[in-house]
Amino acid sequence: MLVIVESYQLCKYSKFLFQPLMCPVVVGKLHSYHQWASPMKNNVISFLLKRRSVVAKKMLPEEPAKEDLENIIACGLRVPDHSNVQPWRIVVLQGGAKRQFDEQVILKAAQADSKEPLSEAQQQLESQRMQRGGVVIAVLSTPVVPHKIPVWEQQLSAGAMCTNLLLAAQSLDYAAQWLTEWPAYHTDVISALGGNPGADQIAGFIHIGKKEQQPDERKRPATAEKVSWWKAPNS
Ligand SMILES: Cc1cc2nc3c(=O)[nH]c(=O)nc-3n(C[C@H](O)[C@H](O)[C@H](O)COP(=O)(O)O)c2cc1C
Repeated sequence: MLVIVESYQLCKYSKFLFQPLMCPVVVGKLHSYHQWASPMKNNVISFLLKRRSVVAKKMLPEEPAKEDLENIIACGLRVPDHSNVQPWRIVVLQGGAKRQFDEQVILKAAQADSKEPLSEAQQQLESQRMQRGGVVIAVLSTPVVPHKIPVWEQQLSAGAMCTNLLLAAQSLDYAAQWLTEWPAYHTDVISALGGNPGADQIAGFIHIGKKEQQPDERKRPATAEKVSWWKAPNS
């Protein structure tokens, strides 16, 4: 019998999970919420059925390991992309660059938009916005126009890239959250990331840090609420 272990361990020990019948080994620490694996399930399905985001304000500002970050980014770059247009860019905010981005871009843009001087609380919030986690991966949607692939599909690819990055980080047991917040819609922020505010958009900021505790489950829709099986009108 095989026990499913925490998601990062699923990845580390995936070779065992791909051979569930041959490997009756219990790996790693167990918690009550872990389920018994069905041989029909693979480790990706098990992970996707349980993964959760950890909100940025609850993550610890610890950077992912270099190799993990490289793998997370590589997973982002393997996103589905109709006709290989590559209509996206990734900008990583890491180390001192996070603070500089907050001070030189976020805080300035917030101040410029405010009719009144920012309160101390607002200044505190904006000067830390990109420093809640250990690293922020900004994803720019940069559609190629004109192109035979509709802009909508190119934008979907940028959104899917955010999903890939998020899932990759969460599968390695990092705290991760996809945020837009007001900076995603600010032209100065888009410019500072190398985008063209007239054409490009920020699909998301993927905040990645260290998990302090497991997040609670979130209410998910029942299948019947959102899914139907199409039937021909005359059937
Ligand atoms: C495009 C996009 C933008 C989002 N922006 C925000 C945001 O600005 N603030 C926020 O609290 N949650 C935002 N979220 C939601 C969270 O990232 C996350 O999906 C939600 O907390 C549910 O967590 P889950 O990943 O465990 O389902 C956004 C989600 C998406 C897809």
